[in-house]
Amino acid sequence: MAKYTFSQNFEGWDEFKNLPLQERLPYFFRRDRIYDVLFSQQFNRSFLDTLYDLTNRIRRIAKIREGMLWLADLHSHRRAMLYFVQPSTRTFLSFLNACHILGFRTSEIRSMETSSEIKGESPEDSIRTFSSYVDLIVMRHPQEGFAEKTAWLLNCYSDRPVPVVNAGSGKDQHPTQALLDVYTLQRSFEHRGGIDGKVIAMVGDLKRGRTVRSLSYLLRNYQGVKILYAAPPEFQIGEDIKEFLGHHAIPFEEHGSLEAVLPWADAVYLTRIQDEHDETGRSQSEYSEFSLDPRNLSRMKSDAVIMHPLPRRGEIDVAVDRDPRAIYWRQERNGMWTRAALIATIFGSDRVVSEEGERFLRSV
Ligand code: NCD
Repeated sequence: MAKYTFSQNFEGWDEFKNLPLQERLPYFFRRDRIYDVLFSQQFNRSFLDTLYDLTNRIRRIAKIREGMLWLADLHSHRRAMLYFVQPSTRTFLSFLNACHILGFRTSEIRSMETSSEIKGESPEDSIRTFSSYVDLIVMRHPQEGFAEKTAWLLNCYSDRPVPVVNAGSGKDQHPTQALLDVYTLQRSFEHRGGIDGKVIAMVGDLKRGRTVRSLSYLLRNYQGVKILYAAPPEFQIGEDIKEFLGHHAIPFEEHGSLEAVLPWADAVYLTRIQDEHDETGRSQSEYSEFSLDPRNLSRMKSDAVIMHPLPRRGEIDVAVDRDPRAIYWRQERNGMWTRAALIATIFGSDRVVSEEGERFLRSV
């Protein structure tokens, strides 16, 4: 088995990682532009508004063949590496296809078993190797903080640094999932005053689920939002998130059942039990009271939306899929477009998409 411990000692890393997050964040921007995408706390409201405008624009341009071809020429001189050494279906495919929409050529490693890590190469050296060949690294890794360490390392030690995008870091964060979740919320509430003032319920394994953590951080950017957390007591949201919400005066409540939050929520965001982290534990069926089916569906507001980062197990009965409030498949599709907009932003082509893309659209 390949090891994925921080096996090498890089001078400066320990000091850096002990700095408060606010002091580390500027390090991942270049010339006022986001460079490494690692945490939800990197995004502010104006960044989000601009990113979502760009997402909509890219979608419109891509609707026609000429538009798709124009987009695919934008970065045809660039290469991206997808390093996904933790299982992934939609995040991997949406990043891969987002890269292809923008014209990137891609390469991938999907298991440590097929990289030189199996020969004992440190993950850090493997990453430096990728940066010799590509212009962007998108990574999913089981170790919390590894994406940040990679970005820091490339910025500090490599003579060919490339941007690093965190596509899921252990139990900690999944910032691009939060970006697509908030984009989906914004589109859903477009004619109801946007996300401001809405009640968002997060349900399931909140302790080990990285999507709800990143989403909680991102909701800071909206006014008057209230979060309702519903989970078995052992899987309630982490103290660090509660501290963050307290610090930003974001109201939240913790509940021990789904029933308690259903009637009040404008969005219900369900998640699966992350039992890959279990040492011992209850079986999945014991959490069945945290799932949605046609019976408890009637307790929800008529204009609420149902979301899930997917994959699902029993949290949402397939009978719910046909309910007009179910938007999780749409949410999944939104991922590819949001990620394309994010990559275009990192590479500074947001302006050309906005200006020339618009002109181009008018001319066809
Ligand atoms: C999530 C993940 O990997 O954190 N999936 C995803 O990226 N859409 C959620 C999960 O695995 O439960």
